[in-house]
Amino acid sequence: MMSHTDPTPPDVPALPAPALQRLREARHLVVLTGAGISAESGIPTFRAAQTGLWSRFDAEELASPEGFLANPALVWGWYVWRHALVVRAQPNPGHQAVVALSRRYERCTVVTQNVDDLHERAGSRGVLRLHGSLAAARCMGCSRPHPMPPVQPLAPGDADAGRRIEPPRCPACGDRVRPGVVWFGEHLPAQALASAQEAAEDADVMLVVGTSGLVHPAAGLPARARAAGALVVQVNPLPTDLDPVCHHTLRGTAALVLPALVRALDP
Ligand code: OAD
Repeated sequence: MMSHTDPTPPDVPALPAPALQRLREARHLVVLTGAGISAESGIPTFRAAQTGLWSRFDAEELASPEGFLANPALVWGWYVWRHALVVRAQPNPGHQAVVALSRRYERCTVVTQNVDDLHERAGSRGVLRLHGSLAAARCMGCSRPHPMPPVQPLAPGDADAGRRIEPPRCPACGDRVRPGVVWFGEHLPAQALASAQEAAEDADVMLVVGTSGLVHPAAGLPARARAAGALVVQVNPLPTDLDPVCHHTLRGTAALVLPALVRALDP
């Protein structure tokens, strides 16, 4: 595994010197992340053509209250599978570089759309979660928290494709237990969203890592930061809807580009 002390390969894109200087001098750094930062930990992104979960399933079936009510075993089984994938995964050098970056600044705010816990497991604290958490299942009816099923280690050669699983029933009210993620058509956690918007407006620099920028209101944060005067830098191997909003885009993967950025700040 790569560490922050490994030399930077020559083809990793770098920021121009003036932008690097602004990053060095910033007081408040905001890091906005999406599924791409966890891709190199083995968690498929939502929209990648080959591996993305959306390419194999219909988003509305799996990520809406209506889809859950129509087919609870399909939806619950899918989230149990994703939760197991996350539990077995490890944070990658991209998550670790976010921790290293945060130590440099008077204020650093990590805002994530991800429902995994890899930022926290890498050591980030106070992460603002806009789309909930795979680990925080709760009752549909009374919102009582409910643990996810324990995750068994995979035997070598085991295929883990997921399966339909009937969701458990709440011991308090008998309603179904649902995943703790924000679904299409649902409100984001108000406090986390308000804090993220306040942070965007206060940021000197915003790093936008591994998001397609298609899902609002999270996708509006880079424009909000830029309008308030921040330098906005994107890290993504592919073009996104956020390209026009960002001052600079580093076209590479999070696990390569972010550690290189950390090294570039302390030459
Ligand atoms: P997407 O799957 O839409 O986008 C992932 C982005 O990561 C793409 O732009 C990829 O090019 C990029 N990417 C892939 N590999 C990468 C790597 N190794 N390093 C850096 N970037 C990489 O995921 P999100 O933008 O996070 O919402 O999706 C936003 C929301 O859509 C999700 O939070 C989810 C979904 O609906 C909910 O579940 C509510």
